[in-house]
Amino acid sequence: MDISRLLEEAQGAKAKAYAPYSGFHVGAALLTGTNRVFTGCNIENASFGLTVCAERVAVYNAVSSGEKDFQALAVIGDGEDYCRPCGACRQVLAEFGGDILIIMANKEKQYEVKPIFELLPEGFNFNLKF
Ligand code: THU
Repeated sequence: MDISRLLEEAQGAKAKAYAPYSGFHVGAALLTGTNRVFTGCNIENASFGLTVCAERVAVYNAVSSGEKDFQALAVIGDGEDYCRPCGACRQVLAEFGGDILIIMANKEKQYEVKPIFELLPEGFNFNLKF
């Protein structure tokens, strides 16, 4: 896996962020099992609760293009700290497998990598028995 390429894609997506309220720009790039890359940026709204994070936009972009098998997601923010997915995004990513590697980067493209199962231990699992 080419982490630097994935970070480049995430940085490119970050440039498209719509974040007039927080001023915090985020980009994400999701690598599929077939080595395709889908990107996303955060999209804010005047009704703040409608804001969507870059990670979820990348996942929804990929799934709506027919992809559900993911190897890794890189996320990059504007900050000096590594950009870590929020709880909602962790749940959405974990939907597609616990082994997805999450590459969390700061604005200098320094990063840390963890599998999603470590970022969301004991997440919700819809396994009702009928
Ligand atoms: N944000 C993301 O897009 N991804 C994250 O991992 C953390 C937060 C966005 C949401 C909002 O537009 C801005 O960053 C500030 O919270």
